[in-house]
Amino acid sequence: MLNNQKHLFDLPDNVTYLNGAYMAPQLKDCTEIGIQSVQRKCFPFTISPEDFFTERTLLKQRFATLIKASDYKNTAIIPSVSYGIANAAKNIPLQAGDEILVVDQQFPSNVYHWKEVAKQHGAIIKTISPPDTFTSRGKLWNEAILNSITQKTAVVAMPHIHWADGTLFDLKTIRKKTNQYQAALIIDGTQSVGALPFSATEIQPDALICGGYKWLLGPYSIGMAYYSDRFNEGTPIEHNWMNRLESENFSKLTQYQEHYQEKAGRYSVGESSNFVLTPMFIKALEQLIAWQPVQIQEYCKNISSEAVQTLRAKGCFIEDDNYRAHHLFGVYLPNTVNIDALKERFLDEQIYVSYRGDAIRISCNVYNTPEDFDHLLRCF
Ligand SMILES: Cc1ncc(COP(=O)(O)O)c(C=O)c1O
Repeated sequence: MLNNQKHLFDLPDNVTYLNGAYMAPQLKDCTEIGIQSVQRKCFPFTISPEDFFTERTLLKQRFATLIKASDYKNTAIIPSVSYGIANAAKNIPLQAGDEILVVDQQFPSNVYHWKEVAKQHGAIIKTISPPDTFTSRGKLWNEAILNSITQKTAVVAMPHIHWADGTLFDLKTIRKKTNQYQAALIIDGTQSVGALPFSATEIQPDALICGGYKWLLGPYSIGMAYYSDRFNEGTPIEHNWMNRLESENFSKLTQYQEHYQEKAGRYSVGESSNFVLTPMFIKALEQLIAWQPVQIQEYCKNISSEAVQTLRAKGCFIEDDNYRAHHLFGVYLPNTVNIDALKERFLDEQIYVSYRGDAIRISCNVYNTPEDFDHLLRCF
C-alpha cells in the first residue's frame, strides 16, 4: 500500500490542494532536473547530436510502460491534447452522414477538431448527454453511449472519465461495440492516465491522447500520445525533419527523405527533444511507474471515502463509487447550500478545488491526506 508522498513535493502546509485536475504540483526531483536542464544550454557543447534522440526515446518508452502498450514506437510526443487529436482526426476517413460521438460537456480539445473535420466531410457530431436524473446516472450514461454506437458511427471520441465530475466510462465495453461497426475509438486520457490504471493492450484504443501537466505530473506544454498500428501509414499534421527515417545522421539531412520513422514516429511535434521538458517528464513518469496507478487510485479512495459518505449524508450528490474515479469527483450541492459563500470560505481557508459545470470538482493525489478532506468538510 502506498503511503503519503507529500514530502516529494513543495506544497506549503497551509494550503489544502485538492485541484490536481487543474494542474498537478511539481515533484521536487522534476524541479531539480528542470533547473539543471535550463542551465545546460549555457554550455551547448555538452549537448550532442545523439542527445536529440536518446531522451526522446526514453520518454516514449516510459509512457508505453505506464499505459501498458507493447511497443513504444506506437507513441509520440505532443505539445497539447488538441495537437494529438488533430493527428488522429487527419487520418480517419469520413463520409457524409458519418457520426462522430462525443459525450456532453467534453473538454474542448477533443471536440473542436472533430467539429472542423465534420464540417469538411459532411459528418455529424452526436453528443451523448447524461440522464436528467441523479439515480443511476453513471450507469444510464454509459448505456446511452453504448446504444448510440451504430453502423453510422465512424468515431467515438471521448475520455476515460469526465473531466468535470469524474464519471467513469466503461471503455472496454465501448471498445467492443465500436469494433462491431469498425468505428474508431479515440480517448482523451488527460484526466485519468497516471492516476487511474489504463492498459492499451486491454482496451486497444485507436488513439490515446494525454496532456502531461495533470495526472502525468509533467511540466506544461508537453504530453504523450499513443497511436495504434492503424495510423502507421498516416500523414502527420506537420513535417519535422526528426520524424523522417535516418534523421539521426545530421550530415545527410538534406538528402530529403520520403520515409518516416517507424510507426507513430511521424506524429511527434517538431523539436520534441525539448531539452528542458523531456527530462522533467521522464522523471515524473518514472515516479508514476514506481507508485503504480492502481495504488494511486487506491490511496485516493482511502483518503476520501469518509468525506464522500459525509457529503452524501449532507444531501450532496456524488456518483456511485462503481461509476466514478476516486482521484477526481464532482460534488453536486443541495439547493440549501449557498455556493458563493462556500467558494469564499474555501478561498479564506486556502482550499483549492475547481468549479466545473454544476459540480464542485475535487481532485486528490498522493500528496493529500484525510486531514485535507476534514478541512474541506469543516467549510460546509
Ligand atoms: C480532459 C482534458 N483534456 C485536455 C485538456 C488540455 O488540453 P490542451 O492540451 O489541448 O490544452 C484538459 C485541461 O483541462 C482536460 O481537462
